[in-house]
Amino acid sequence: MKIAVVGIGYVGLTTGICLAAIGHSVVCIDKNLKRINQLQNNQLPFFEPGLTEQYQSALKQHNFRVTKDFSDLSEAEAVFISVGTPTEETGESKLTYLIEAVRALLPYLKNNTLLIIKSTVPPGTSQMIKTLIESSHTKLDIHLVSNPEFLREGNAIYDFFNPDRIVIGLESPYAEKKMGEIYASFIENKIPVVVTNTQTAELIKYASNAFLATKIAYINEIANVCENINGDIETLIYGMGLDHRVGNQFLRPGPGFGGSCFPKDIKALAQFAKTQGSPLKIIEAVIKSNATRKTTMIQKIEKECGGSLHGRVIGILGLTFKANTDDVRESPAIDVISELLNKNAMVKTYDPLGMYNAKTILTSNQITWCKEGYEVAKDANALVIATEWEEFKALDPKKIKQLMETPVVLDFRNLLNEQLYKISGLHYQKIGG
Ligand code: NAD
Ligand code: UGA
Repeated sequence: MKIAVVGIGYVGLTTGICLAAIGHSVVCIDKNLKRINQLQNNQLPFFEPGLTEQYQSALKQHNFRVTKDFSDLSEAEAVFISVGTPTEETGESKLTYLIEAVRALLPYLKNNTLLIIKSTVPPGTSQMIKTLIESSHTKLDIHLVSNPEFLREGNAIYDFFNPDRIVIGLESPYAEKKMGEIYASFIENKIPVVVTNTQTAELIKYASNAFLATKIAYINEIANVCENINGDIETLIYGMGLDHRVGNQFLRPGPGFGGSCFPKDIKALAQFAKTQGSPLKIIEAVIKSNATRKTTMIQKIEKECGGSLHGRVIGILGLTFKANTDDVRESPAIDVISELLNKNAMVKTYDPLGMYNAKTILTSNQITWCKEGYEVAKDANALVIATEWEEFKALDPKKIKQLMETPVVLDFRNLLNEQLYKISGLHYQKIGG
């Protein structure tokens, strides 16, 4: 099918390239001309494992291209919109980019085009866009569809080809038929498809993200209790997870959840529910719990530094919000560094892929940007594992001990080998143990 994608960030570009891989003919557009130029020069604008290979193969098959010109979308039978939906200061979802994109597109759409909203949006948004289109006095029949995305950064390609489910909100039998054509290969492979109305599809997305965020906040608070009783969090999670009703996924304790989605989506859901007169007390508590988490992390570092961070050298390994991405949006590591700087600490840091993006946010001259882990450890009063990159596991604890000013390692991701670090003479502390 001829498909267009508007907004080629992590979601749109992955979706476009992967739709081409399953045989559709895809044209993508973005208002960020730098992104378009990069792609036209054979460069991806961000890192996502496996995406370069998929991109090259789509180019070879001649069924994927990017454009700067909305008129190039006029042949599309379906248009996916995957522009950003950040939060307003009020906590509400900002729909300006979505509305802008629809307005830019509208003059070029043909009759019976599917307009598929992939961006995460509050319930009722597809209906609002439908009203917006109707008010433009167009004579076209445009079929609004909600098709939320569930991929994870760092696993985006795998998640595209192996989704747990495909959620589709729609209103017309024609839209259902065409969505069936787009996802035909998934339907053949018996991937569950949930077909519902647009507002339910939109809420499924928010409710899923909010539930996952709640699991993380829950285990982080349980980890605090575990620390107080000298318990062992790994065994605790194993013991909980053996109950199939609980499961063991999304129960890794850490410095709090970050990224471009959980923090913004739970705020938007809480705000939306409140304005609807059905406040979500649990989600409001999760928002507070996650904010407190960062303070708890700072207190841990402060305690190990004898109560004051002034002039202390803190090594931070990891800047991205999770491993296998270059994305530092709402990264707990960035929050921790900002607070360390406020408390007049000196920070040394390194991340395998996140340095470039982190430097656009952190500009203080109290930061030393290092080229690898040992350089971060050198002369540090405490070394913090802020992101769970595999390469940090390969660091030699004996060498780290020799390099550090004071041998304190705070493992906020429970990544390192506890025994090895302890027998190497380091004061090693993990989360929840
Ligand atoms: P992103 O910021 O990486 O990309 C958004 C892109 O949209 C940008 O390139 C921007 O230039 C473009 N854009 C904005 N306004 C435009 C317009 N009027 N016309 C054309 N292009 C425009 O965002 P993302 O991380 O890909 O997320 C996109 C949406 O998908 C959000 O609603 C997000 O919540 C949702 N989502 C994201 C993920 C994820 O892992 N990142 C997963 C599931 C859902
Ligand atoms: C998350 C969801 O997992 C995706 O299903 C969803 O599509 C996406 O949000 C979205 O809507 O944008 P993502 O933000 O890429 O995906 O990353 P996650 O792996 O979910 O991690 C989010 C944050 O939670 C990270 O900071 C991570 O370190 C943290 N986390 C995750 C934990 O602290 N513990 C865990 O057990 C899992």
